[in-house]
Amino acid sequence: PESKGRPPRGLDFKPVEVNTKDEVVVPEGYEQGIVIRWGDPLFPGVPEFDFDNQTAAKQEKQFGFNCDFAAILPLDPLELTGIMVTNHEYTSEPFMFRGYNAANPTEEQVKIAWAAHGLSVFMIKRSLFSGHYRPRFSKYNRRITLNTPFEVRGPAAGSDLLKTSVDPTGKKVFGTINNCAGGVTPWGTILSGEENFNQYFANAAGRNDPRLTRYGVTGTATTRKWERFDKRWDLAQEPNEVNRFGWIIELDPNDPDSTPIKHTALGRFKHETANIRVADDGRVVAYSGDDERFEYIYKFISNGKMKRGNSKAARRHNMTLLDDGTLYVARFKGDSPASEIDGTGKLPSDGKFDGTGEWIPLAAGKKSFVPGMTAEEVYVFTRIAADKVGATKMDRPEDIQCHPRTGTVYCALSNNVERGVTPGKEGATEPNPRVNNRHGQVLELTERRGDALALTFNWGLFLVCGFPDDPNTYFGGYDKSQVSPISSPDNVAFDRYGNLWISTDADGKLDGLNDGLYGVPLEGPERGHLKLFLTVPRGGETCGPIIGERVITVCVQHPGEVDGASADKPVSNWPDRGTSRPRPSVVAVWRKGRRQLGEIG
Ligand code: FEO
Ligand code: CA
Ligand code: CA
Ligand code: CA
Repeated sequence: PESKGRPPRGLDFKPVEVNTKDEVVVPEGYEQGIVIRWGDPLFPGVPEFDFDNQTAAKQEKQFGFNCDFAAILPLDPLELTGIMVTNHEYTSEPFMFRGYNAANPTEEQVKIAWAAHGLSVFMIKRSLFSGHYRPRFSKYNRRITLNTPFEVRGPAAGSDLLKTSVDPTGKKVFGTINNCAGGVTPWGTILSGEENFNQYFANAAGRNDPRLTRYGVTGTATTRKWERFDKRWDLAQEPNEVNRFGWIIELDPNDPDSTPIKHTALGRFKHETANIRVADDGRVVAYSGDDERFEYIYKFISNGKMKRGNSKAARRHNMTLLDDGTLYVARFKGDSPASEIDGTGKLPSDGKFDGTGEWIPLAAGKKSFVPGMTAEEVYVFTRIAADKVGATKMDRPEDIQCHPRTGTVYCALSNNVERGVTPGKEGATEPNPRVNNRHGQVLELTERRGDALALTFNWGLFLVCGFPDDPNTYFGGYDKSQVSPISSPDNVAFDRYGNLWISTDADGKLDGLNDGLYGVPLEGPERGHLKLFLTVPRGGETCGPIIGERVITVCVQHPGEVDGASADKPVSNWPDRGTSRPRPSVVAVWRKGRRQLGEIG
């Protein structure tokens, strides 16, 4: 049995100190290595990356920019080989090109950016004695870019709202964009969320369309000016192209010839991710957050049941499950008097931010539950539907995952500096208890009787993040003198012992300290004992954590991106050192061992 002060299994490491170093810092006794960097070739015959000689044709066959989500599908029981899949969320042109002229990007620069978005699929391999995964050329290797065809499926496929001059069927879209987090399905495919798609579409101004403004599609020219090189980014010429982004996509990495899918039944918003839990009767439930201030948490319940097994036929069936079901949105209720939620983060008199909640139906197939909206409209303009049914406005719902053993749902609520500050915006509520919320919180949600299909739930805040010496932070009730500071939780993951791991995207909010990856027990006397496992280089975000038995990998997104920096004024030379420009990369960390590799923690 565990006793207080003794680390639970999987978390036996000495926490690293917060810092501002231009390197990845790991605990004593651990080693690290770069798995893959922006521009590394994924196919034979593709040249090595050359910062000063980039082309779109090369980028189509190289690892993309700003890796966020990552997954490993093991190809052998020892996890010596696997298929790695990563998202490439967005491009940062001033950091990708020397002398970048934002007012007049070249056509080649724009086409490089189209090719640097999307996903990468590639085989990885390590030796028995090292955790250092390296990429390999294989039949699985693939790039998904803005030029890759997707099939639109589910109840809004073929809707007039999705038709364009290039695609009069409303069922075929080229590419995916701003893919943030994601998930691995129980049937071995990848789900990925199209997040901040609004920023890519020009000329919304003057259209006076609440369906655009509700999604933050505003203004005239875009920052990247893509609309100059393809009319699909210009709303004045292609008003519906914008409706073809903001979905959950599904990709089968086992079949490099498969066409990826956009699942309209999960609704359209700034999807951070989607993750699946299988109900006792085989139906599947998908949870997804809309990552923006004051947005909502959603749940989808399928009508069909999952087929077990790893056959291609089973996978083909399971890839239809997210096309047919019911979409819900969450409404939270606190159990403490509103007068006790004072906006500081001070715990109410019952000692907890907690309460109950319900899942409100929005649409099922062709049936809408929202007055004044058709089902198609609910799927394409889901935010407006959720507004109408009185869903609860949350502090930026980021990653959301179910505990593999208990089914409890964990959601990172990253931060919300507008709560109770911006005129007209909502103030503190029990699930979002701080005004000017810089550091965020981690939500625990338990479905009624633990049933994935339940339509009511209990909830509580597990962490109220920040510096532990701030009296209005909360670490699961643990002794705060023993925990690491944390701000802006973004991704959540679990290890095989059921501990929670959290990666952060604080963008300097933790007094300018670097982002990192943390481990924390959820049960027993050590519940809430949060420890910092690693930090990433200055300006970078820690994302895509994969907590393996012997190897932990994280993505380091946008290293060196701090205000005032650029490719002409770099503040980071990670990971290539010397005078090199920073490159978003995947990093592997493992425990040093004399013989076979030791277990993490
Ligand atoms: Fe792309 Fe929600 O972080
Ligand atoms: Ca309470
Ligand atoms: Ca994220
Ligand atoms: Ca984020």
